[in-house]
Amino acid sequence: MKILVAGAGLFGRTHMELLVGQGAVIAAADPVVALADRARADFGAETGPDAIALMDTFRPDGVIIAASAAAHLPLAGAALARGIPVLVEKPVALTSKEVARIGQLAAASGTFALPGHVLRFSAQHRALASAVHRSTIGPVLSVTSRRYRDAGHALRYADIDPVLMTMIHDIDLAQWMTGNHAVSARADRVRGRDGRSVTHATLRDSGGVLWQLVSGWTYPGEDAPPDRIEVLGEDGSLELVVGSGLTSSAAGRIFHSDPTEDALLAEQTAFLAAISTGIAPPEVTMDDAIAGLKAVEMVLADLGLVGSGSA
Ligand SMILES: NC(=O)c1ccc[n+]([C@@H]2O[C@H](COP(=O)([O-])OP(=O)(O)OC[C@H]3O[C@@H](n4cnc5c(N)ncnc54)[C@H](O)[C@@H]3O)[C@@H](O)[C@H]2O)c1
Repeated sequence: MKILVAGAGLFGRTHMELLVGQGAVIAAADPVVALADRARADFGAETGPDAIALMDTFRPDGVIIAASAAAHLPLAGAALARGIPVLVEKPVALTSKEVARIGQLAAASGTFALPGHVLRFSAQHRALASAVHRSTIGPVLSVTSRRYRDAGHALRYADIDPVLMTMIHDIDLAQWMTGNHAVSARADRVRGRDGRSVTHATLRDSGGVLWQLVSGWTYPGEDAPPDRIEVLGEDGSLELVVGSGLTSSAAGRIFHSDPTEDALLAEQTAFLAAISTGIAPPEVTMDDAIAGLKAVEMVLADLGLVGSGSA
């Protein structure tokens, strides 16, 4: 199978390594020529500065869009116009309108766009969702999620807000756990030196459930505490500490995380299988991605950053 990776930065390279491991023939595009050259040297990729030109010469079976977020809509549009399925990294685009546009283009293309909400493919998060959806804790009252990243994020992703870049994961998790979408948001942010920040957001969803989400770009190294999500119901609670396991208030540890698990590999495998069958993977839809961006916009609006998409 031939896959074009648009964007040969940090995450594009992670995708490429996994693709090569799966036996895919790859091409890589990045306007930064040194990054494209590195992808050729390290992964044997056919390379070029222009992803859309490579769509016509390399003629991929699928495109993985791991470019900067501002480039997602034009790249996805170009692939879909050629009838090529796309996996679009999160954030799928900068605004809910842009995500909706990708959804429209996918619907008209005869193929599909898969939002890169990788946690939907993670076994430990799937165990949590399954326990919630089986009503083991009764009707859900609240979802609490914490995600801290290293302070380098503030420099590496200076042009994109932490809500769009990082909290989007927690928003999508809350949507998945509850089956609802956000209807209102309150948020606040504290800033530290060199762009460090921590953002607290409280959202209310369409079923009346409260989401309390915290994202920080604060840690001096890679040693941030693990991501943690707690779902509180009328009859108990469930807590996932990523990398450790899932604990139920009633039954103790009910799932042990597999340290070798690779959710991105699972997501890629689902994407490649969907290319072969022509049927979009069911785990996450463009409607989920649109609802997620609407929630991002509510949080940014309460932070006074509406329409900017940047901190
Ligand atoms: N799912 C996850 O957990 C996860 C983790 C990290 C990054 N990501 C996402 O992956 C994407 C890339 O992130 P990154 O960390 O690699 O960022 P990065 O800045 O390291 O790389 C982005 C690359 O895209 C390139 N680019 C810009 N416009 C382009 C275009 N038109 N065509 C081709 N390439 C173009 C840039 O030159 C840059 O090299 C972002 O959307 C990010 O949010 C997702």
